[in-house]
Amino acid sequence: MVQSAPPADEGIPVMSDEVRRACGVCHPADAQGRMSRISYRRATPENWELTIKRMAALNGAPVTPEQARKVLKYLADHHGLAPEEAAPVMFDAERRVQGMSFTYEGDKQTHDLCNACHSVGRVLSERRTPEEWDLLIAMHRGVYPGIDGGSGSFRRGAGAPGVKAPVDLAVEHLAKAFPLMSAEWREWSATRAPVRLDGRWSLAGYQPGRGPVFGEVVVEAVPGEPDTFTTTTTFTYAKTGETVTRDGRAIVYTGFQWRGRSSGPSAEADEWREVAAISRDQQEMSGRWFTGFYGEVGLDVTLRRVGAGPVVAGIDVPSLRAGATAQTVRIYGANLPQSPATDDIAFGAGVTVTGIVEASPTVLTVTVDVADDARVGPRDVIVAGAHRPSALVVYDRIDGVRVTPQAGLARVGGIVHPKMLQQFEAVAFHSGPDGKAGTDDDLLLGAVEANWSLEEYSATFLEDDLEYVGELRPDGLFVPNVDGINPERSGGRNNIGDVWVVAEYAPPGESKTLRGRAHLLVAPPLYMNWASTEVGQ
Ligand code: HEC
Ligand code: HEC
Repeated sequence: MVQSAPPADEGIPVMSDEVRRACGVCHPADAQGRMSRISYRRATPENWELTIKRMAALNGAPVTPEQARKVLKYLADHHGLAPEEAAPVMFDAERRVQGMSFTYEGDKQTHDLCNACHSVGRVLSERRTPEEWDLLIAMHRGVYPGIDGGSGSFRRGAGAPGVKAPVDLAVEHLAKAFPLMSAEWREWSATRAPVRLDGRWSLAGYQPGRGPVFGEVVVEAVPGEPDTFTTTTTFTYAKTGETVTRDGRAIVYTGFQWRGRSSGPSAEADEWREVAAISRDQQEMSGRWFTGFYGEVGLDVTLRRVGAGPVVAGIDVPSLRAGATAQTVRIYGANLPQSPATDDIAFGAGVTVTGIVEASPTVLTVTVDVADDARVGPRDVIVAGAHRPSALVVYDRIDGVRVTPQAGLARVGGIVHPKMLQQFEAVAFHSGPDGKAGTDDDLLLGAVEANWSLEEYSATFLEDDLEYVGELRPDGLFVPNVDGINPERSGGRNNIGDVWVVAEYAPPGESKTLRGRAHLLVAPPLYMNWASTEVGQ
């Protein structure tokens, strides 16, 4: 039996027979129904899944997949994180590559020690009693005996006499910063509403490299399966008009954690995962849909509930230039007026709607003029009283282009491991009121079509990375070279390295060429994908 002496006043009683049956042999319950280990921890669905998998794989827990799903649902629901606790670590579940550069500001030493194999996000995905934080270190030492060596040593009490070991300091910090009980969790456990998501949702999304998407998701509850939904999704890429239809299924954990999967007409080949957080009032959910071995290809999405009134999801162009006339703009949404007058539609001061080209419940195509002296800055779009804040930016000049992400990551692959791609975008910007580039008041004007190239990032003398790392496509997608040793490369090296990704853009009607660049690291495959979890199956 896995014993731990429960503090008298702590611990979350387990009320589920399913959990008792599946886990009780090794984790006995006390008189108050508190099970050893299990009652002294809260975690995200991903972390619970990881634990349950380890129980089956390493500790020999005899759980069937069916049982595991039920235990996961119960524990994620009743020993979960509150929305405010989960928000800072959503990047982990959403598989945001840039989350890997997330720094936990609470304690530098804990960050460095615990951000080496998995992201520190995994750590911040849990709440524990002091004793449970302590036992977690024992688990790491048990599973990874090698962890005791080196500079990031997990050896307890290591170091000079009177100096605490890094791992002891980390445990102290975690016990204080992330205790089992919190005001947020007490409040959420008491007030959370039953999950009622049936109905139509208006979808607004953005896929780096492909631009904005708009559409609709119809959500239906699955009878007899708590918090389980099927989805029918249709959306259009605003830039190309390409329309996509997908069917999916999702489970909601902890009253707000949407975890789903969807597939298109070609089935398994393009399965996407869906991770989103539902707002408290259940009127909105936002997150990321993604695919690829590393989850690196995906869209940021926001879904807004469609009721009787109009919803404005967004518009197809991110910005308009002062002085531009007869510009065509598409406004996407739901329940949009069928025969609107031009003054039913407003873009704020200096932008005049001059005509309605076409109107349907989901798209209004209009023409607008922008005054020469229109004030530079963001504009809300309003249609028949429905509002979308900061849907558009009015600008008078383009001051530069910025390549996003600023620090890209790709992984060679294609032979033993799949490749990890990196999509870059060149985003035009205006320096804002202060006239200085790179400050908080910069106005982003949207992605532009740039000319792309790679340049050597000179870290050492005689670099040759450029020849080997891979190819940057005309649309800014970097496709790395194959994995494994390349006999053509000196020293029998892999096709890894680092380079500059350069975008050049000539704004229409101007003689200047703007240039931006980002750093790209082309790394080896992740041989052991410690980040991998599949909640929502
Ligand atoms: C066959 C015995 C066995 C069964 C059954 C079992 N466990 Fe465990 N459990 C262990 C052992 C051994 C440890 C300590 C080592 C470790 O953490 O992997 C442990 C540790 C844990 C911990 C603490 C892990 C941490 O991160 O510190 C949790 C939580 C847990 N188990 C949950 C469960 C759940 C949930 C189930 C039911 C699905 C379960 N266990 C079933 C043996 C078992
Ligand atoms: C040597 C690599 C390594 C380092 C360093 C490391 N971890 Fe882990 N950690 C792992 C692996 C691997 C797992 C997944 C174990 C499993 O479930 O198979 C894990 C799992 C976890 C989990 C989930 C536990 C569970 O039951 O699922 C937490 C929380 C965690 N680590 C916290 C920490 C903290 C805190 C630190 C710093 C003190 C740390 N990790 C440093 C490798 C590491």
